[in-house]
Amino acid sequence: MAEKLLEIKNLKQYFNIGRPNQVKAVDDVTFDIYKGETLGLVGESGCGKSTTGRTIIRLYNATGGQVLFNGDNVHGKKSKAELKKFNRKMQMIFQDPYASLNPRMTVADIIAEGIDIHGLVKDKKERMQRVYSLLETVGLNKEHANRYPHEFSGGQRQRIGIARALAVEPEFIIADEPISALDVSIQAQVVNLLKKLQREKGLTYLFIAHDLSMVKYISDRIGVMYFGKMVELAPADDLYRNAMHPYTKSLLSAIPLPDPESERTRRRIMYDPSSHHYAENEKVEMREIAPGHLVYCSEKEFAQYKTQYKK
Ligand SMILES: Nc1ncnc2c1ncn2[C@@H]1O[C@H](COP(=O)(O)OP(=O)(O)O)[C@@H](O)[C@H]1O
Ligand SMILES: [Mg+2]
Repeated sequence: MAEKLLEIKNLKQYFNIGRPNQVKAVDDVTFDIYKGETLGLVGESGCGKSTTGRTIIRLYNATGGQVLFNGDNVHGKKSKAELKKFNRKMQMIFQDPYASLNPRMTVADIIAEGIDIHGLVKDKKERMQRVYSLLETVGLNKEHANRYPHEFSGGQRQRIGIARALAVEPEFIIADEPISALDVSIQAQVVNLLKKLQREKGLTYLFIAHDLSMVKYISDRIGVMYFGKMVELAPADDLYRNAMHPYTKSLLSAIPLPDPESERTRRRIMYDPSSHHYAENEKVEMREIAPGHLVYCSEKEFAQYKTQYKK
């Protein structure tokens, strides 16, 4: 496969919510993201997806572990100038297109914020040209530049958020449930826009979603999180065909089926974490069941999974 853009190694993010309570939002998670791919990250609300993204992009200091970007430690000691350079390479698109745009700023100023911070243009005229061109790239037009966020629909606002992220010409974008707040009819449009931009600009995406229905269409590989742990990571088609971890199976069983007859007989599988029975000294870790298909399990479970895996 392609070159690694990011290497996330043993990443931990623990929040102290008043002693002795600690939330292990991200608990020893390791995975790579390849150049030009879309890695889908799924799991139910509260499992640590956003915290993983926010820690990778350095909105939080990691409790432990490493994030390498092109082999360079993002969380290592860096000068202000070096940090600024990193900030430009990694951008984020947020779930809520209402809350994530400053209501008092014009669309032009929202989009140009990064351009201004990084000094990417020589004068006002070039700045506006950039803004117009970005608006066009995301399917809006120059008449939108001097308006305010409240004048737009949810889908249009998400396009503004995408233009803002693109403005600094990043290599890597974390899209944190970018379509969850949108009408179903608009979701595919935004996904298609993201796909088109990826093709044209060679972008790498971490695409976060809470279920497995939409990520299938955008992801090359998919990682499944449960309570701060990555429990399965596989090429997208292999994950749908050969889900090994019982939690992944339960997520898959929650997807409505397009065929009414199959949908009528669809059985929801519930995940019971206590079904795992690990001994105290048993090593539970990510094990590779097929090329690029990793599942979090003990050695005993691994032997069972191997007998279930369909080539
Ligand atoms: N800033 C924070 N302070 C304390 N706890 C947090 C903070 N952010 C997230 N959490 C907790 O960490 C866990 C993971 O949250 P989050 O990453 O937002 O999950 P997801 O994006 O998968 O819904 C949750 O239990 C959440 O309550
Ligand atoms: Mg989240």
